[in-house]
Amino acid sequence: MSKTYNIGVIGGDGTGPEVIAEGIKVLESAASRFGFKLEFTRYDFGGERYLKTSEVLPESAVTDLSRHHAIFLGAIGHPKVKPGILEKGILLKLRFDLDLYINLRPVKLFPGVECPLKDKGPRDVDFVVVRENTEGLYTGTGGFFKKGTKDEVAVQESINTRKGVERCVRYAFEYCKKRNKDRKITLCGKTNVLTYAFDLWERTFYEVGSEYPEIKADYAHVDAITMWFVKNPEWFDVIVTDNMFGDIITDLGAMIQGGMGVAAGGNINPEGTAMFEPIGGSAPKYAGQNVINPLAAICAGAMLLDHLGETQAASTIENSVMEVTGKHLKSMAAGYMGYTTTGVGDLVANLVSKIQA
Ligand code: IPM
Ligand code: MN
Repeated sequence: MSKTYNIGVIGGDGTGPEVIAEGIKVLESAASRFGFKLEFTRYDFGGERYLKTSEVLPESAVTDLSRHHAIFLGAIGHPKVKPGILEKGILLKLRFDLDLYINLRPVKLFPGVECPLKDKGPRDVDFVVVRENTEGLYTGTGGFFKKGTKDEVAVQESINTRKGVERCVRYAFEYCKKRNKDRKITLCGKTNVLTYAFDLWERTFYEVGSEYPEIKADYAHVDAITMWFVKNPEWFDVIVTDNMFGDIITDLGAMIQGGMGVAAGGNINPEGTAMFEPIGGSAPKYAGQNVINPLAAICAGAMLLDHLGETQAASTIENSVMEVTGKHLKSMAAGYMGYTTTGVGDLVANLVSKIQA
């Protein structure tokens, strides 16, 4: 009997549902070729539902979603909803409640994709950021004192636990070993100023690193990292960092790989479920026009299959995407691809069914 995977789908806001539809099209194509089954359960969480019902994400939905093998998420963010409500109530809530402690963000420049860096090509931009996803500045720890008065104080603390840091660092070393590219891992921190948090990170990093003599462990400050991303991206193989720095450097990473149209990421609990998403936003101005680039969502689908252990199907999707960027699309930008959203999905799905695996 062929394997069946249950996938929870949250199309979400703006162009989210459109790109997820193309992602599903490609996943179905991979499933039929590689002999497994996918069962999709759709959820309507997002801005529209919130505006209608005032409900962001019911508690029962978290339990329900946790029973799936994986979650496929489009985009969260609605122009009529105050920033923070949906992000906190859906995306961050799922990260915390499902303990999705790894945020895995590959930064890979595909053939044919325009790179804003002078003289850099696909050989130079190919690394992965492992971002801690449940601690740091994102825990919401802190508060106000004398709010609204002239003596107001606001405190927002970065929480770093030995357990949280160690499991993230260990995942990054294991990932680096499995990836088997340059066998180099860089801790991105700020040990010269954040002398408590990154002291813990640095000690943990080198302690865990001593168990991996075959991997070169390196360190760089976060500000310097942003400089090297632009100047020498080829130096990086795997980068591990905390939640906030990871958030910031991966937007820069997305730009050097050709923009939000191609950047995908996974929110992963290596022992449990995981949620995969294109990392760009909901792009409301392009919603419903069939012009947005679905490749990031398609790549998120490939990461989802990789997580499920369907590695051949995953790499076939990635190879098909590279064929499409290299030979078909004129640009990655919405409206300038030379194809519609559904047209790009058709191209990739068709290649997945026949390209050499
Ligand atoms: C991301 C996003 C989120 C984050 C927002 C939407 C809460 O920017 O996934 O990188 O800050 O983590
Ligand atoms: Mn971000």
